[in-house]
Amino acid sequence: MADDCKRILRLLQQGNPTMLLHIDNVLTGEELDWLRARLLSASWVDGKGTAGQQSAASKNNLQIAPDSLLGRELSTFLLKKLGTNPLFNSAVLPFRVVPPLFNRYDEGMSFGAHVDNALRPIPGMGQRIRTDVSSTLFLSEPDEYEGGELVLYGPSEQQAVKLPAGDMIVYPTTALHAVLPVTRGSRMASFFWTQSFIRSQEHRSILFDLDQSVQRLTLERGAKDQEVLTLTNIYHNLLRSWSEL
Ligand code: NI
Repeated sequence: MADDCKRILRLLQQGNPTMLLHIDNVLTGEELDWLRARLLSASWVDGKGTAGQQSAASKNNLQIAPDSLLGRELSTFLLKKLGTNPLFNSAVLPFRVVPPLFNRYDEGMSFGAHVDNALRPIPGMGQRIRTDVSSTLFLSEPDEYEGGELVLYGPSEQQAVKLPAGDMIVYPTTALHAVLPVTRGSRMASFFWTQSFIRSQEHRSILFDLDQSVQRLTLERGAKDQEVLTLTNIYHNLLRSWSEL
């Protein structure tokens, strides 16, 4: 439990709890090696192609073209991994996900403070999603580059995030954010947006806490325990009450 708590950092922002969740080992070492090898042999294009009007002005990085064969292959691979990640599903309650993008920041590249568009098209689907939750999966080890921290800005404080390769940070898309300049080496990552079944960050946070507690209690007492049953019922009733479908 202590480890779980350590991974969950909360910033209280004017009464709205903003949850940053660190999910470690989203990829196994083998998967990471495979993905990195694919990325190292890829051709990269200017990242401005997927930026909104405001963010394009401050974006200086490289991306795998989302509609390329490789871009689609790697996106599909990651989506499958996310579908089986218990923490991601518990925290985000994903409804629709924009296929993950892959980016690279070489020396001198950065992405200044910006906002992500609230609505984004899902390529090839003729649909747009509301961007509730952002996720960044780190694909370079921290000692492979200097700088390159993902910075999330709150009204009174900011948080700089740099994780081991294969780990992911999940944060509300409402947060203003930046990637600091890389001053040595190269930083590769994947990022994507999710529309949650639960629009309110506060409600998502409550459901996540409750789900995690119920899971721990189930391990301790078994699924037939009366309190486990009652709390599981409360969880699903809240989900039923708050979800948008
Ligand atoms: Ni962004």
